[in-house]
Amino acid sequence: MPQRGQIIPAFAEGHQLVLDITLSAMITYIMLGFIGGGNMAEALIKGILRGMSSIRPGDIIVSEPRDERRSYLSETYKVKTTPSNKEAASLSRIIILAVKPQNMEAVLDEIKDLINPEKVIVSVAAGITISYIQSKLKTDKIIRVMPNTPALIGEGMSVYSLCECFTGREVDTVKEILMSAGRVISLPEKYMNAVTALSGSGPGFIAYFVEAMIEAGIKAGLSEEVAKELTIQTLAGTSSLLETGLSPQRLREMVTSPGGTTQAGLNVLNSRDFKALIADTILAAKKRAEELSL
Ligand SMILES: NC(=O)c1ccc[n+]([C@@H]2O[C@H](COP(=O)([O-])OP(=O)(O)OC[C@H]3O[C@@H](n4cnc5c(N)ncnc54)[C@H](OP(=O)(O)O)[C@@H]3O)[C@@H](O)[C@H]2O)c1
Repeated sequence: MPQRGQIIPAFAEGHQLVLDITLSAMITYIMLGFIGGGNMAEALIKGILRGMSSIRPGDIIVSEPRDERRSYLSETYKVKTTPSNKEAASLSRIIILAVKPQNMEAVLDEIKDLINPEKVIVSVAAGITISYIQSKLKTDKIIRVMPNTPALIGEGMSVYSLCECFTGREVDTVKEILMSAGRVISLPEKYMNAVTALSGSGPGFIAYFVEAMIEAGIKAGLSEEVAKELTIQTLAGTSSLLETGLSPQRLREMVTSPGGTTQAGLNVLNSRDFKALIADTILAAKKRAEELSL
């Protein structure tokens, strides 16, 4: 009999799956299968292995087309890997779709015949709607999630939506998986494009702001090393202060004395309409999420 999480050799070589009823009854399913082993899959895998003692590396399988990426994932996280999406989909109870939105149609077509009522589908792809996945996979057990990259260190922000028709323990399991990678809230799906822009793309915007602060620090005469340390610790400290419940407005006022240095800097931000620039940034990301929507 196969052991828990063991891949049957024929599948491990990525052959076409031919499951007869006897063989199907013999398989002990792997708990989690990732389709696509890129940045977001890695962030979630890392978070899950750090934060969930009930999930071990052998409980995770990742299908990924690139050999070197598979080697990296299996060596770094000791998870199982395969070049076959069908293999990952057929062996997993929870299938996490972590490919780019433009690859989603091909992936759904590839795995649609392997989906049964026992499986839960989790999609992290920007813009891919629950109804689109439902139309392809013919199941209601679909959870759409927008995570973000701080999941890599258990500090992610995930928002999930699901059909009202899908309730029960499986939803709690997926929620627990997401919580291992950070905070989790649920919202109706109509908010997903805004969420994608704010917290999904948000780390990219904040990192860009940090890049600009470091470059400015260098222009102001500091070494790169010092500018980097000052900027990153200021970001971390500010973030922790805001976590105490202090409002951003109150924090800004605490730092800004009339006629002082912060006021001089804020005058420049205001003269270039900083808030409008940020609003345009978020709205452009939201619009792009809408355009990518399927
Ligand atoms: N990165 C983020 O911060 C973030 C945040 C929220 C949501 N997301 C969502 O997460 C999803 C993945 O994004 P990502 O940043 O992780 O992208 P990524 O790093 O490019 O990962 C996608 C992975 O899927 C692989 N792939 C491509 N075609 C495939 C196929 N047909 N079957 C299986 N695997 C395939 C890619 O391999 P190749 O490199 O060889 O093409 C790549 O390794 C996207 O839908 C995105 O919207 C990402």
